[in-house]
Amino acid sequence: MARITYFLFCVSLALQLIFFYTSMAKPATFYDDFHITWSETHIKQMESGTAIQLLLDQSSGCGFASKMKYMYGRVSMKIKLIPGDSAGTVTAFYMNSDTNLIRDELDFEFLGNRSGQPYTVQTNIFAHGKGDREQRVNLWFDPATEFHTYSILWNRHHIVFSIDDIPIRVYKNNEAKGVPYPNSQPMGVFSTLWEADNWATRGGLEKIDWTKAPFYAYYRDFDIEGCTVPGPAGCTTKTNNWWEAPSYQQLDPIQARKYRWVRLNHMIYDYCKDKSRYPVPPRECLAGI
Ligand SMILES: *[C@@H]1O[C@H](CO)[C@@H](O)[C@H](O)[C@H]1NC(C)=O
Repeated sequence: MARITYFLFCVSLALQLIFFYTSMAKPATFYDDFHITWSETHIKQMESGTAIQLLLDQSSGCGFASKMKYMYGRVSMKIKLIPGDSAGTVTAFYMNSDTNLIRDELDFEFLGNRSGQPYTVQTNIFAHGKGDREQRVNLWFDPATEFHTYSILWNRHHIVFSIDDIPIRVYKNNEAKGVPYPNSQPMGVFSTLWEADNWATRGGLEKIDWTKAPFYAYYRDFDIEGCTVPGPAGCTTKTNNWWEAPSYQQLDPIQARKYRWVRLNHMIYDYCKDKSRYPVPPRECLAGI
């Protein structure tokens, strides 16, 4: 009896050690998945490479990109945006096929604002080379005081942009009903911080205040899960990848309720409702689609 107890004790100790070490596994660093694409001098690693600081000044903005491209999956990261007077600045986080002719692209763009005015998040979707699907929401929190999680889920069923697990945009795969859907080419993950005061804030009326420069944004907890292309054979056609599971094929009732809350209370622009741009609404905007 004592021996069995001792044996069980040893087994449980061994298991605890294994759990301890796997949970202590080195977190993904920026350089595991990304490289700098624009201005090395403006991106600084922090916290042993698990976080970075992006800098914008009058000499340059900066940008980074994933080393790999992915076909379906989910990408998320925590971002702390430029505090205070960020008018005229744009921080973008997006996926892009990087193909000019038939570009697919999923965009998150954070448009800065004067101190005390809300940041605007613009999303856009390019499918088979065509974009012009902008939506904008004003954020219900100050994205510059703490890190918040921004994610893009992309699978065979839909694309969901979320902030802290609150869906702010859903684009369904309605290819069967003639709506273009990105499903033929892998996409990389990109981010940039730059100056766009000719359009970003109040349509370009609010200019960047360079006396407040340099401007800093922070990123951490990089997480990309998806099939890398090129990558393991058969991954992209497998239907049991977790991001294709039934619970990721449509919003659950709680997510749907949060999504309605965003649309009712925080959406300030929807191309679907812009009659001057689209006298005839695009197909994906039609009810029942
Ligand atoms: C900035 O603040 C103004 C005033 O509250 C608001 O109308 C606008 O949507 C905000 N965002 C941008 C990017 O201009």
